Amino acid sequence: MARVFSSFVILALVFYVAMASEPSPLQDFCVADMDSQVLVNGFACKDPSLVQADDFYFDGLRMMGNTSNPVGSKVTPAFVQELPGLNTLGISMARVDYIPGGLNPPHYHPRATELLTLLEGTLEVGFVTSNPENRFITTVLHKGDVFVFPKRLVHFQRNIGKTNARAISGLSSQNPGIVTIANAVFGSKPDISMDILAKAFQTNTDVIANLQSKF
Ligand SMILES: *[C@@H]1O[C@H](CO)[C@@H](O)[C@H](O)[C@H]1NC(C)=O
Repeated sequence: MARVFSSFVILALVFYVAMASEPSPLQDFCVADMDSQVLVNGFACKDPSLVQADDFYFDGLRMMGNTSNPVGSKVTPAFVQELPGLNTLGISMARVDYIPGGLNPPHYHPRATELLTLLEGTLEVGFVTSNPENRFITTVLHKGDVFVFPKRLVHFQRNIGKTNARAISGLSSQNPGIVTIANAVFGSKPDISMDILAKAFQTNTDVIANLQSKF
């Protein structure tokens, strides 16, 4: 019985370690020192005696983002770059504004699951599972609804209402990263060769040239 129990404890510990996605902090905080020359996984810590309330504070989510762009949406991040107190804590936030018809285009976060709460408006949301199923999971959100976009899966949101929409997202990393599919594929610097993309997308180089000119 004791042996079964201890095996269970060991198994639980193994699973705990295997599932932890960010190293747990070993101190109260490690406010990012953006000027440090020390190279670590994340940012080096500011001297704790110099840390101020401002290091844990960000007022950049008060205002609507500037949606005057081709997709009609704007993500305003509160990641470690904007809020240095988040360093090592494995959490961050973003505000997303959408005009009617506005789209937060297909993208993924290489380091975070996203939990979106719709504060205002109506959103069509969805994500696609990995190969080979590539199942498209989609629904419509109304004010107050919550939807989760699992880590590293391609997802989007579109405002299908007649008024502006506003969402707030929690992300499971202080530095989630954003890979926008169109920008990564058609807007890389330098360009990926047109013939490679033409073959990948089963089309011709004129179509690819047109897409590359837009990103
Ligand atoms: C919003 O973005 C557009 C396009 O980049 C720019 O022309 C405009 O000045 C910006 N508006 C404000 C209020 O910053």
